Amino acid sequence: MTDSSYIFSHRHLLGLADYTADDIRHILDQTDMFREILDRPVPKIPTLRDKTIVNLFYENSTRTRISFELAQKRMGADVVNFSASSSSTKKGESLKDTIQNIESMKIDMVVVRHESPGAAHFLARVIDANIINAGDGAHEHPTQALLDMYSMRQKFGRIKGLKVAIIGDILHSRVVRSNIIGLTKLGAEVVLCGPKTFMPVFIEDMNVRVTYNLEEALAWCDVAMSLRIQLERQEQGLFPSLREYHERFGIKRTHLEKYPDFIVMHPGPVNRGVELESDVADSDRAIILNQVTNGLAVRMAVLYLLSGGSRV
Ligand code: NCD
Repeated sequence: MTDSSYIFSHRHLLGLADYTADDIRHILDQTDMFREILDRPVPKIPTLRDKTIVNLFYENSTRTRISFELAQKRMGADVVNFSASSSSTKKGESLKDTIQNIESMKIDMVVVRHESPGAAHFLARVIDANIINAGDGAHEHPTQALLDMYSMRQKFGRIKGLKVAIIGDILHSRVVRSNIIGLTKLGAEVVLCGPKTFMPVFIEDMNVRVTYNLEEALAWCDVAMSLRIQLERQEQGLFPSLREYHERFGIKRTHLEKYPDFIVMHPGPVNRGVELESDVADSDRAIILNQVTNGLAVRMAVLYLLSGGSRV
């Protein structure tokens, strides 16, 4: 819990790098309230009734886009969805021109996903609205890490001292960066595991340990967070084949039996038979669908706090 003198003072959520441990704890505390609202027979509140929000998605998304849109609608906002594939981006319009035109229509908040690292920071400089980063290239994906941390706290009652193994395509993952930043700020221990070619140089400077041995990571951890192989971001030759990747780094039913304590998380979308054996994704040790439900509550909390957060 954050103490009573704490004041949340951010206008944007560009990344967890800009947030303190208290900021993160405060969002997780607020999320409890929204999680409770979602369990009501009518899960709606009028908090964002006077707000107009644009969801600006330049990259594909299922969970994150639907989750933001639902969160906004549950809070009474007017919502506009922009997707690059059906817009004037195809006619060559730049991000800056697009957003300045959208801003002229009087909007309050923008949720942006873009393939370029720094896109959300750029928008925060050129327009006046509150900006939320929903994933910028391989840089950050702060609401995903917040929902992951919330899900861990819900399961274990704490983050401090928790042993979290993050397994897979570390090099291309924005989810891993935001999780490392958030988890280490809250005092968790983080071990990264994956092929050497997927391990960024100097990653140990982020206060994490590295292993190339899956069994070692699974024997040690409370949480095994598996990450998707980002096929759309691969350069040539980083790993031999999906089958071989699964052999060495896929979590299998036999692992669940051998190490009975860890839980399985995944941000989705899961490549079944690659990161996780299908049986593992569906087992009661996996909390993947609960992560999705919590994502909605975390996003409501973030929207609430950035919009000035006084009326629920
Ligand atoms: C992640 C993303 O887009 O970064 N997915 C998500 O937001 N749920 C991870 C991924 O695409 O693998």
